[in-house]
Amino acid sequence: MARKIALTNQKGGVGKTTAALGLAGGLTRRGKRVLLVDLDAQGNASASLGLIIGADGRTVKDLLAEGGNPSDYLVATGEGDVLPANNALKDIEPFLHRDDGVRRLKKLLAPLERSYDFMLYDCPPSINVFTRSALAAADEVIVPVEVGFFAILGLKQLLEEIEGIRKEYNRALKLRGVLLSKFDRRTVLSDQILQVLRDDLGERLLRTAIRVNVDLVKAQIAQKSIFDYSPRSAGTEDFWALTEEILNG
Ligand SMILES: Nc1ncnc2c1ncn2[C@@H]1O[C@H](COP(=O)(O)OP(=O)(O)O)[C@@H](O)[C@H]1O
Ligand SMILES: [Mg+2]
Repeated sequence: MARKIALTNQKGGVGKTTAALGLAGGLTRRGKRVLLVDLDAQGNASASLGLIIGADGRTVKDLLAEGGNPSDYLVATGEGDVLPANNALKDIEPFLHRDDGVRRLKKLLAPLERSYDFMLYDCPPSINVFTRSALAAADEVIVPVEVGFFAILGLKQLLEEIEGIRKEYNRALKLRGVLLSKFDRRTVLSDQILQVLRDDLGERLLRTAIRVNVDLVKAQIAQKSIFDYSPRSAGTEDFWALTEEILNG
């Protein structure tokens, strides 16, 4: 059965999509079968994999709207299979607010759980119905945070929100960890913040931090995996380390 991991933070630009792509790439290269579910109407994960889906293309929105066999909506890539998203995702949002809409994604993807080792959910930058759907479907949540003072302030509130969603929809959900993204060890601020986070979070702070590395940005622009774009970069090194940490439990 697949391990299902949501990458969640209500802030934009904190490294959710980069972490989803890095993990998908690392896990795939370790021979794991990976499904990446793009739940952001901006479709950044899809676009970074070269999947720019036009208005008439099939996306996660169509699966949510029409149901049916989820395999029909997937695209195979070198980084695993992808359930892509585009701007059309917004259209379905009001419908998911009704009835059991938050549990719909989990139900629709359940038939795929035996076909993958990992299912990764890249969440949008808000706690909307898609983030709730991902947290209802996942076993584990990783919270990428950009190292900075406001990140710490927002984190406590976010962890409380996740706890609320856990109680309402998915008691099995575990916080796998907080992931420091865009980490820069050279700044004093980073060291101080790291200490605060370590004291606060203990085991819930992932050992791997993702350092600031411009190659991660360039790889996304080139629509390539960091592992192929710049195999010797800090980004590749850090996402190998994160892959190992996740594989080890
Ligand atoms: N470790 C990093 N070093 C440098 N740039 C990064 C790093 N992680 C992410 N970025 C860049 O920051 C921007 C936001 O990251 P992204 O993963 O899209 O965040 P989110 O999905 O949370 O909105 C992107 O342009 C991305 O390439
Ligand atoms: Mg994103």
